[in-house]
Amino acid sequence: MNIEWIDEQNDLAGKVVLVRAGLNTPIENGMVRNDFRIQRALPTLRFLRDQGARIIIISHIGRDGTETLQPVADALHEHLPVAFQTREELVVSTLQNGDIVLLENLRQDNREIENDETFAQELAALADIFVQDAFSVCHRKHASIVGIPQYIKSYGGLLLREEIEKLAQVLDPEHPALFILGGAKFETKEPLIRKFIEVYDTLFIGGALQNELLAARGIEVGASVIGDGEIAKDILENEKIASVHDVVVAHVDGSSETLAINEIGSEDTIVDIGDGTMQDLVATFNRYKTIIWNGPLGWYEKGYTSATKTCAHALALSSATTVVGGGDTIALIQKEKLENEFDFVSTGGGAMLEFLLKGTLPGLEVLK
Ligand code: 3PG
Repeated sequence: MNIEWIDEQNDLAGKVVLVRAGLNTPIENGMVRNDFRIQRALPTLRFLRDQGARIIIISHIGRDGTETLQPVADALHEHLPVAFQTREELVVSTLQNGDIVLLENLRQDNREIENDETFAQELAALADIFVQDAFSVCHRKHASIVGIPQYIKSYGGLLLREEIEKLAQVLDPEHPALFILGGAKFETKEPLIRKFIEVYDTLFIGGALQNELLAARGIEVGASVIGDGEIAKDILENEKIASVHDVVVAHVDGSSETLAINEIGSEDTIVDIGDGTMQDLVATFNRYKTIIWNGPLGWYEKGYTSATKTCAHALALSSATTVVGGGDTIALIQKEKLENEFDFVSTGGGAMLEFLLKGTLPGLEVLK
């Protein structure tokens, strides 16, 4: 990809460098619960600091602009001396070489998600150059992603480069290759599923996506979460899609049990893939040379993490090239202390999936 990379530049001392980082991390009781994205942002920041740049980091946290990046600043401070300020408080002329400032949540200003050009210009005016390192947000057409590079010389950061290199490799995988996809909304994932049917040897589909497949096959799914779109026959009948023969269901009384798929009751809710199916799946892992995984296999938010855990532990032991991503998947992997057991862990959720589908992202196109 024809992008200029920041570590190929050698005249950065004294330059004010605006870095878009992907620091959207889960917060619990005012503290960062999962610091994976913070850890992954460090190499670019350390590089710039070592070069004597004056660094202004911008990021968003949360969806609606109500959250603060203060807990992220605290967590970042454990690795690097970083000040935390609002844009109004920042006085760029007082920054010294090697200083680092993190600015408050970009989404507190609606103009960020509106991709407002004056907002992008105001941000660009803060610095001499811009570094895009927020791979996890590069699928969004927001001011800090597609706006700023139109007004200021821009480079890709070290994390951004690693993400696109590693993900591009698995788009042309060593075979046999397995794609494991969890999450919801079949309709939005269908193009990706079609692409992987072409490029990969086997697909395993979990999460609410699997509920939709079961329902489309005429299997009783009770009160399970399903979309209202239809699933094309050629996908339903495709032999590359591995079958599921048992699931965990929650009953109306709150209890749960594992049932064969033909035993699901009309009031049951499917909440996870069954252990029988998972054992069959993980027993095949040693056949593959490449395995990619994105998205939890069960209803993660409600605490149904069993299939996701089984998958994570087995994948960590597999000899295949393993690439994983997706916010909830990463949270679990970090909780299980498995983050160093894969060939690559992407910081992207939606961004990873869109990159796998299209081979590029809006935030990358503007850097070219
Ligand atoms: C993410 O967490 O996947 C990215 O930060 C993008 O966040 P968004 O889905 O709220 O745009």
